Amino acid sequence: MSDVRWGVLGAGWLVNQATGAALHNAAGARFAAAAASDLGRARATGAERAFDAYAAVVEDPAIDAVYICLNNDAHLPWIDACIEAGKHVLCEKPLVMTAGEAEAAFARAEAAGVLLVEAVWTRWHPRMRRIVQLATDGSLGEVTSYLGTFTFDGVTEGNYRLEASRGGGALYDVGIYPLHGLFACLPTVERLAVVDVDRTLGGVDVDLTTKATLGWGSGSRATVIGSFAMPASQRLTLHGTAGQIRVEDDEAWASWRKATDVWVDGHAESFPEVDAYQVMFEDVSAAIRGEGGWVLPPRDSIRVARAVDSLRA
Ligand SMILES: NC(=O)c1ccc[n+]([C@@H]2O[C@H](COP(=O)([O-])OP(=O)(O)OC[C@H]3O[C@@H](n4cnc5c(N)ncnc54)[C@H](OP(=O)(O)O)[C@@H]3O)[C@@H](O)[C@H]2O)c1
Repeated sequence: MSDVRWGVLGAGWLVNQATGAALHNAAGARFAAAAASDLGRARATGAERAFDAYAAVVEDPAIDAVYICLNNDAHLPWIDACIEAGKHVLCEKPLVMTAGEAEAAFARAEAAGVLLVEAVWTRWHPRMRRIVQLATDGSLGEVTSYLGTFTFDGVTEGNYRLEASRGGGALYDVGIYPLHGLFACLPTVERLAVVDVDRTLGGVDVDLTTKATLGWGSGSRATVIGSFAMPASQRLTLHGTAGQIRVEDDEAWASWRKATDVWVDGHAESFPEVDAYQVMFEDVSAAIRGEGGWVLPPRDSIRVARAVDSLRA
């Protein structure tokens, strides 16, 4: 199969800052079309063709795969439309709003013979792949504790992140990254127990901060914090019965085009600069071509969505 012809829905902050360029640069992929509510913003992505209606991309027979980069409440209807149209889908995080929606969407994609992948770009970062390898291949023994934070201070008034009806909230927006990191490091754990949860609400019915303690096994614990109302922090530390991992650069989830390290039992392992968004587009394109690119497993998206459900309950 030749290069995968991608169509993009939405031309907001992320497409302009990062994923548009990543798709242009990705090997085995073409940025064939973009659609935005504003035609000028769609054209500005540099896609081969631009539209002012998402359906024009979804229904285009010259598109193989669609990358959905819309506010969170719009993910599910456009995932459904893409699957219906026989397109492969890479959709920004959070894939959908509940675990039930995620399970149903993956079932529909499988029945239609298309890929559905949640675009948690951190999972494609070589450093994160290494962390997951160390946590799951026995190098650290049993994982017994974990700390993951993704916090920053301030979301602009009017942004969908501050409105529940548009899929806003800190847990969906940033708390989801440390949850993905945690579940990736615990492949045999199906569900985590909520030991404690503390949510600070604001905006229009959204959590500005969610702090959670989650448990598994006999007394193992994780602390996960996502916030729009705390000083910027992106931490990951993980302890096992035979070793520990630390990320010290405070960019555990959003390290972009920079050389990075991970500290394993006090020794640094180094990684050259990389654009993990580009790796994501290259891997998903290879998977679509049947050439074995890595994709985030549906089970991981579903386990994270279940944890989000429990923390919001
Ligand atoms: N993986 C990551 O690193 C990462 C980072 C940030 C966000 N995300 C995810 O990516 C998705 C989009 O996030 P975002 O930060 O790009 O959101 P955003 O800029 O607020 O865009 C969200 C929506 O608003 C519309 N929009 C954007 N700029 C506009 C403007 N000037 N006028 C009118 N409408 C405008 C866009 O649709 P139109 O272009 O069609 O108008 C888009 O659907 C979310 O699901 C989010 O969780 C992921």
